[in-house]
Amino acid sequence: MRTMIYPGTFDPLTNGHVDIARRAAALCDHLVIAVLNNSSKKTVFPASERADMVRCVLQDADNITVVAFSGLLVDLYQQMQASAVVRGLRSAADFQFEAQMAAANQIMLPDFETCLLPCRADLAFLSSSIVREVASYGGDFTGMVPAELVPRIRECFSKTRNNPSENGG
Ligand code: PNS
Repeated sequence: MRTMIYPGTFDPLTNGHVDIARRAAALCDHLVIAVLNNSSKKTVFPASERADMVRCVLQDADNITVVAFSGLLVDLYQQMQASAVVRGLRSAADFQFEAQMAAANQIMLPDFETCLLPCRADLAFLSSSIVREVASYGGDFTGMVPAELVPRIRECFSKTRNNPSENGG
């Protein structure tokens, strides 16, 4: 039984994440999507809602489980008896960060394996921060996230626009 972990903040989930998740799920028996719940990292959506959005979009995939996690990824890795962590790669800039994380995780846990999956070329521009930026100005982000998430993301940002003190302004 090969378990892979796809960790991230997913604030919010984008079409790029969905592409990586589905391709990673095809490479293993069980894919655990691990949604970071770290109080020191400020997010627009709380971890429970980010995890819920991932579940809602990927509920048709029968070898995907979604969990929220806090603390170190190496601890989750051991707990899940994982074979590898998968991360999407969009650019050379991503590679720098991913190589650093992979090295740090491997120093903490020598068996820790990281697989970097190149993203689809047409999604290379996409990030959660771009979605947040566009949504925060009321722009059209419909091609960037799964259709079923559009209303809840729009609603969250329209509340923020009407009441800037919500969700960190
Ligand atoms: O989607 P992101 O924000 O790029 O994901 C980053 C994530 C969640 C994979 C990374 O921050 C992480 O693994 N955090 C858990 C804490 C940890 O283990 N840090 C040490 C890795 S260097």
